Amino acid sequence: MKKITVKDIINLWKEKSPIAVLTAYDVPTATIASQAEIDIILVGDSLGMTTLGYETTLPVTIEEMLHHTKAVVRGSRNSMVVADMPFMTYQITPESAMKNATRFLQEAGAQAVKLEGGVQMAQTIKRLTSSGIPVMGHIGLLPQSFNLEGKYRKYGKVKDEKTQLIEDAKALAEAGAFSIVLEGVETNLAAEITELLSIPTIGIASGSHCSGQVQVISDIFGLSDFTPKHARVYIEGKKLFTEA
Ligand code: KIV
Repeated sequence: MKKITVKDIINLWKEKSPIAVLTAYDVPTATIASQAEIDIILVGDSLGMTTLGYETTLPVTIEEMLHHTKAVVRGSRNSMVVADMPFMTYQITPESAMKNATRFLQEAGAQAVKLEGGVQMAQTIKRLTSSGIPVMGHIGLLPQSFNLEGKYRKYGKVKDEKTQLIEDAKALAEAGAFSIVLEGVETNLAAEITELLSIPTIGIASGSHCSGQVQVISDIFGLSDFTPKHARVYIEGKKLFTEA
């Protein structure tokens, strides 16, 4: 079965077709996402909280991400599979980012990687994309930087932050990212960034004007202990499974 590629995602964006992105962590969740015709399956490092019982994404290791990405690739049919690069596997040097990103494509079979950060990650993204590794950027709320503030909040409400986020988005697009996740970005700013970029934006907790939306599968299936405000719970999974 032909896999959805970066080119297909760009075509969806050109046609103004909303891009559906959902996280998955194993064969069953990847199979369900694929059968539901999700365009991109993200093996998010949210895996740390949803599946491995950590409190944040920070303890997630590259070996854990590779292990789960392999399962997702086995379970997904034609959805594109993007793997999250975990904390400190891409920030130290562009060379270590190259080495680690290669593992996701070569060993695990992912088609692209995602990494967090703005302007400061542009050089690394350029290295990866110019070597044939497609990159999805991620700006706004950055879960791997949780310790800087100790809480999750909205980004881009004040002028300096707004200017910075616009600079970040432009830098990632110029560096060759094929799409950018906007997490927790103020709705009007997310719309403005979406309008000015020549690549798709994928929103989460950033309003409805992005080119696509990403959701965490455990949230929409009602499996999480805590459901964030932006998530719509489609089935009360925990209750249904317990009763079953
Ligand atoms: O790890 C993850 O699931 C993510 C999405 C929420 C964008 O980064």
